[in-house]
Amino acid sequence: MPRLHFKGRALVENHHLTVPFHELRAVPEPGLSTTPSLHDNLVVHGDNLAALKALQPTLYRQVRCIYIDPPYNTGNENWVYNDNVNSPMMREWLGKTVDRDDLTRHDKWCCMMLPRLKLLRELLRDDGAIFVSIDDNEVHHLRALMDEVFGEDNFVATVIWQKIFSPKNTARHFSQDHDFILVYARDAERWTPNKLRRSEAAKSRYKNPDADPRGPWASSDLTARNYYSKGTYEVTSPSGKTFKPSIGNYFRVSPENFAELEKDGRIWWGAKGRSMPRLKRFLSEVQEGVVPQTLWPWRDVGHTQAAKKELVALADFERSEDVFDTVKPTTLIRRILEIATDEDSIVLDSFAGSGTTAHAVLAQNKQDGSRRRFVLIECEDYADSLTAERVRRAARGVPSSGDEGLREGLGGAFSYFELGGPMREESLLDAGNLPTYEALAGYIFFTATGEELRPAEMDRSRSLIGSTHSTDVFLVYEPDVERLKLLALDLAFAKALPPANGRKRVVFAPTKYLDECFLNRYEVEFCQLPFEIYRVVADS
Ligand SMILES: C[S@@+](CC[C@H](N)C(=O)[O-])C[C@H]1O[C@@H](n2cnc3c(N)ncnc32)[C@H](O)[C@@H]1O
Repeated sequence: MPRLHFKGRALVENHHLTVPFHELRAVPEPGLSTTPSLHDNLVVHGDNLAALKALQPTLYRQVRCIYIDPPYNTGNENWVYNDNVNSPMMREWLGKTVDRDDLTRHDKWCCMMLPRLKLLRELLRDDGAIFVSIDDNEVHHLRALMDEVFGEDNFVATVIWQKIFSPKNTARHFSQDHDFILVYARDAERWTPNKLRRSEAAKSRYKNPDADPRGPWASSDLTARNYYSKGTYEVTSPSGKTFKPSIGNYFRVSPENFAELEKDGRIWWGAKGRSMPRLKRFLSEVQEGVVPQTLWPWRDVGHTQAAKKELVALADFERSEDVFDTVKPTTLIRRILEIATDEDSIVLDSFAGSGTTAHAVLAQNKQDGSRRRFVLIECEDYADSLTAERVRRAARGVPSSGDEGLREGLGGAFSYFELGGPMREESLLDAGNLPTYEALAGYIFFTATGEELRPAEMDRSRSLIGSTHSTDVFLVYEPDVERLKLLALDLAFAKALPPANGRKRVVFAPTKYLDECFLNRYEVEFCQLPFEIYRVVADS
């Protein structure tokens, strides 16, 4: 498969692996949940590269649907490439706004996206899918990056979203009426889109001009261009007129089958009984849902102006120019939720902006009484004042609103987290940078075993943080520099361990006061903090 080449590629290829884990610190005030938890609906404030890594212990292979709406790289967005990649060329790039004059803007964009797409894939379930909004500025690069990360066999569709309802006559060449949404499955063999509910408009196309007792029906063509050896016969209408498929077309059913359909009153010869026969398809018999199509007109999923209107009703913008510009309509995201989620799916949006995805999830949950969860990440300072604020208002309701749904509120709550410092080996045990016991335990257990920490199974009195089918993992640690100087894997600790009975016992501690001989006798494997926080414990 051809691969996209861009400046900086070699430096970011494995960047997703080297991004250190960061602590996620719960901040109760902006959230709506009484007990903040990483298993709640989430709004995370921080860069999504670090945040996606930090969410791995709880979200690894858990997410059913990812929707992202990254900067389109139009040259007018003022986004900044700020990833901490250690090279002189990248340092040169840092902190500078990526604008139209920047000759490397496409390279920077690809450098920004590649590691993020790789981390996003890690979070998707086998039956999950990712939807990415984009326009002509980067769609060709994005398609190549997605083919590389998700595999070209897992490409599902390029959706065309008709985003405006009246063409821009001031456009220099063409009025740009649509955005793209690229859809990839984690595994196209295992991903099946939900059928969409038949809209009222579609249902209204079923009529009953002949008062058929089976109810309303619509007719479909009985001929097709595909060659069918039995499909070239002639039929006679009740009025005596004969019909044959036109040249190059064939009846789709055999003559015997046609006769049966006719007998069952399923052939429509037109109101006067002298038109080319068509097949009657009864509304009561067609499958309830319809397969998703790739053209999404604004009439079905909303347009950009409607999106702004929705946002303005839920935020405090003083001037029109301040209104968040790239907001999407909730109806668009709800279409994605309808296609790609079920009642308790986790939905992730790591370029959250004004929080449309959370708003859409709450609205969809209210409509069908379900329990989808959202996880939003936003790096800008408005993560609280705009992103979380919209979710707070959508959930609680806006009493002054003229819209009844909005007045009442959609219900639901969420926890708010700030991205903490990196858990780097060299600085992990520095005063002022000590992660909580639970945070460190979560990362250690995940990196060591590949499994999520189950807090209910932690036993602090024995320093046990969790067990797999073959291994018990212990953490001797306290987030206090003075106490840490005294903590060690010592004889008393080893002696207090229950008999190993063939299980592996791995102890993470700042130091040990036991030599190899004792470690072997007590069947303990020692991992020194901070240097071995990313130690992988091979399962036996
Ligand atoms: C196009 S907007 C998303 C709009 C959103 N779909 C909505 O309906 O409001 C992109 C958002 O991604 C955010 N963003 C860009 N780079 C990011 C990063 N590295 N980490 C987290 N958020 C980022 C931007 O601050 C911006 O709010």
